[in-house]
Amino acid sequence: MQITFSSAALPKTGAIVLPLFEDGKATAAFNAVDKATDGALSRAVKAASFSAKTGKVLEIVSPGGLSNGYVFVVGAGAKKDFNSLAAQALGGAGMARVLATKEKAVVFALDGFAGGKITGGAMAAEIAHGARLRAYRFDKYRTKEEKDDKPTVGKIVVNTPAKDAKSEFASREKLGDGVFLTRDLVSEPANILYPEEFASRCKKLAELGLKVKVLGEAEMTKLGMGSLLGVGQGSVRESKLVAMEWMGAKKSDPTIALVGKGVTFDTGGISLKPPKGMEDMKWDMGGAGAVTGAMAALAGRKAKANVVGVVGLVENMPDGNAQRPGDVVTSMSGQTIEVLNTDAEGRLVLADALWWTQETYKPKTVIDLATLTGAIIISLAHEFGGMFTPDDKLAKQLNAAAEASGDKLWRMPLTKAHDDMIKSDIADMQNIGGPGAGSSTAAAFLGRFIKDGVAWAHLDIAGMAWNTKDKPVCPKGGAGFGVALLDEFVRANYE
Ligand code: BES
Ligand code: MN
Ligand code: ZN
Repeated sequence: MQITFSSAALPKTGAIVLPLFEDGKATAAFNAVDKATDGALSRAVKAASFSAKTGKVLEIVSPGGLSNGYVFVVGAGAKKDFNSLAAQALGGAGMARVLATKEKAVVFALDGFAGGKITGGAMAAEIAHGARLRAYRFDKYRTKEEKDDKPTVGKIVVNTPAKDAKSEFASREKLGDGVFLTRDLVSEPANILYPEEFASRCKKLAELGLKVKVLGEAEMTKLGMGSLLGVGQGSVRESKLVAMEWMGAKKSDPTIALVGKGVTFDTGGISLKPPKGMEDMKWDMGGAGAVTGAMAALAGRKAKANVVGVVGLVENMPDGNAQRPGDVVTSMSGQTIEVLNTDAEGRLVLADALWWTQETYKPKTVIDLATLTGAIIISLAHEFGGMFTPDDKLAKQLNAAAEASGDKLWRMPLTKAHDDMIKSDIADMQNIGGPGAGSSTAAAFLGRFIKDGVAWAHLDIAGMAWNTKDKPVCPKGGAGFGVALLDEFVRANYE
């Protein structure tokens, strides 16, 4: 997608998108197009009683006086509420309509469109960012798609008098690149994206200036990572642990660690999952995907912060060599775990990934992301990621970043009572609790692998990594959830 910002006259080709606020006041751009079409726009707005409510779109095909094929008047809602996320959604809503046409370009005509909470170059940049995010497609395996069904839009032109739109867009472009990387990783089938392939995609990020380290099974065995390795032992694919380091600040500045669950496929292992919907488990690496995308975004925009991203990569398969329910494994921390259910594998992977991360990088703050439990979908549906942390300050920071980025979070309980539920009769802990509070007992399990003094939060993103329907800035499929959140968290608190 080619993206340009221009203050020149509107291009003569492409679909024009004209935003309007609910207040009914026409913009300079609207008036110009209305004049060129001899009032066709204002007549259409009146005839359709167009409300300009958020997400409403009025379509005018090939109006006389213009050579452009379409004009879309897009509702921007109430001016006072118009913020960054509303601007992104507006860009997405306009783009969604243009994608359904045969147009080669979309022109956002913003002259005179000045918002409430965001305006000027930043607003123009958010609109472009939202439009670009919406136009994402994962179509590499669709070799026989009808030409007619493929979108033709290859250009976004943002027509704005704001001089700083292009520079405002620069960091958002890198964020978008990170989101796309995550969506790609999440969308790849598990026969293509297994631990080694995931690791080699991480290695490519060295191009952005990230230092990438990959550990294989031999090294992890030496380090005593019996918990992570136990999950991968039924797979013919070698388990990997990848660290991506971005040191954008002074060496003496604190390090933030992001740790992701990267189960490239989760069959459940010997505690086999039922067949219905099992294909979803190709995106059980959504946490690792988000961490990887966030590292790409941070490095891409040269964030002034020290951040390390660590992903634990395994495939959970049933096999003659797979671990059994009842097995006891010893984690790198020395703590022993009774594996009562081989389908509660993500926490086993994270246990060693978290411990290794703290030993290696001594981070002050650790945030892990994981598609950890089905129970979080019961609690929060597909509206929020679940946030578990004993640290009120970190919770506040993450809530603020969630609010600003649109990657919504809801804090969930994590108490001693949940920790008590994972006591084992024969080991230091068991990997499942009772029937209740499955997301909280999973979090309590992870908490046992966090060192004293480390500010830690666990984000259960099982309900958020994949969209089953289109959203304003994300077509259905891999969502890229977490990338904007982590980017914003780092920006707001460390830069
Ligand atoms: N990967 C799953 C969780 C999941 C479920 C993610 C649905 C996305 C959508 C995880 O490994 C798992 O199987 N968890 C079990 C835990 C249980 C055995 C305690 C679950 O949620 O059923
Ligand atoms: Mn599982
Ligand atoms: Zn899993």
